[in-house]
Amino acid sequence: MACKVQIDLGERSYPIWVGAGVLSHLPEAVNGLRGLVVTDAHVAACHGERIAALLGGNWPTVVLSPGETSKSAACWADLLEKIAQARLDRTGVLVALGGGVVGDITGFAAATYMRGIRFVQVPTSLLAMVDSSVGGKTGINLDAGKNLAGAFHQPIAVCADTDTLATLPPREFAAGMAEVIKYGVALDAAFFAWLEAHTAAIQARQPAALERMVARCCEIKADVVARDEREGGLRAVLNFGHTLGHALEKVTSYSGLLHGEAVALGMDFALGWSVAHKGFPAADAARAIALLKQFELDPVRLRPANLDWQAVRAAMGRDKKAAAGAVRFVLCDRLGHCGLPEPVSPATLDESLKGWCAHGIGQ
Ligand code: GLY
Repeated sequence: MACKVQIDLGERSYPIWVGAGVLSHLPEAVNGLRGLVVTDAHVAACHGERIAALLGGNWPTVVLSPGETSKSAACWADLLEKIAQARLDRTGVLVALGGGVVGDITGFAAATYMRGIRFVQVPTSLLAMVDSSVGGKTGINLDAGKNLAGAFHQPIAVCADTDTLATLPPREFAAGMAEVIKYGVALDAAFFAWLEAHTAAIQARQPAALERMVARCCEIKADVVARDEREGGLRAVLNFGHTLGHALEKVTSYSGLLHGEAVALGMDFALGWSVAHKGFPAADAARAIALLKQFELDPVRLRPANLDWQAVRAAMGRDKKAAAGAVRFVLCDRLGHCGLPEPVSPATLDESLKGWCAHGIGQ
């Protein structure tokens, strides 16, 4: 088992190996170069020894504190100092072993150390496998907001070893499923139907189902990124559910909701809007909500109590994807098909958001 998805970006093309045991491709990915592993304490405990054995044991390792707080300017500066202390030169390579936080900060360090060195993504969370490790977005958070400092910097390879998902806590697995379902709802109706038909196998984390699921998400993302690497337009479709999702993360101080949970809520809202204004079939919106529920992403249960809709609205206007304060949404007109982000009427948005914050649509 295992497969390879290629991301086609000319001289920046790279393989994404997906499946059980693909960590064994790591020596091939680093291709004899010297470097440094960046991970967090949880992941180091689960996979550190195996990675050290695969890399030959001589690689220094930087262990970050688990969690979003490590994606800060202070941690990034500290990481750069450690890379310099390890005497990496421009031929050096970083290995990002972990979830989205580790991948994003390591990628940003790779983008900025000596104006850019190589890095390999070894995602160990479902969300990182299907989204953040692929496509070259790297960055850190500022006090003013999430991912506000960053760079496009592609890895030289991604090793998405689905065996590492065996130790992923259920809540993290569910949060990753939000991004998986996003691909089906917004970009691939056949994949959506496949997810519906394989719910039990995915919930049981059966290796063949996980490989097929992660590989399909990577294929969809690779195709979008190959056509619009720097988000001139098309790539923004990957943000279905993210306009409200990011705002909810912000108003809950990045501590109440996992990113994927916030995206599930954002999809609930975007689906309601798509039904009301884009002709998206209500029956398909109900299927999407039912699938979210199958994966412990029930929007009614996830929606934080006492949401202040005006605070959410203000956070949406400050999102870095809002153009001059105008809020834009990715909306679907049919299952598996969405358009580019479009501005929405402020008055309708206020009304819809007020209702959603009080009741949601996912009943
Ligand atoms: N996570 C959305 C993107 O990579 O563009």
